[in-house]
Amino acid sequence: MHLDAPDGLAPEDILQELSGLLSGEGDPIASLANAAALLAMHLQGVNWVGFYILRGEDLVLGPFQGRPACTRIPSGRGVCGAALARREPVVVEDVALFPDHIACDPASRSEIAVPVLAGARALGVLDCDAPTKGRFGDAERGLFEAAADMVGRHLAEHGARL
Ligand code: SME
Repeated sequence: MHLDAPDGLAPEDILQELSGLLSGEGDPIASLANAAALLAMHLQGVNWVGFYILRGEDLVLGPFQGRPACTRIPSGRGVCGAALARREPVVVEDVALFPDHIACDPASRSEIAVPVLAGARALGVLDCDAPTKGRFGDAERGLFEAAADMVGRHLAEHGARL
């Protein structure tokens, strides 16, 4: 798989670092916290990146980097809920044009949300906001999909229940 570099560090290198951070640690909170920190460290021009964890019917705020955010997103709501319901990434070029967008940080202009799955089981969502429109293109989608896939597999391997 080859991904174009969205920023300075090539996506392959970001993913390799993520793999290294995850390996050997079975605690889900530790893994999600470092994954969010790594993405925030390497991605330029983003104002929020982190996880929402599926608890019952709601997505509940998990480890993240950025300003304090909405703690609870009801099933199917917002960009995050849409990604989970569709079981596929949702890329929003302009959040003002996504009718059900939930504004946590008023600075956010574009967003990507990717489901985190353990096989068929949904664990949560990896979400990222940017203060400019159209920040997330094909390269970013590829990176976030691969990162969410790696996190989901890692949590599944460790039998993690979030
Ligand atoms: N905008 C998201 C809510 C989460 S924040 O962006 C961190 C949504 O519409 O689901």
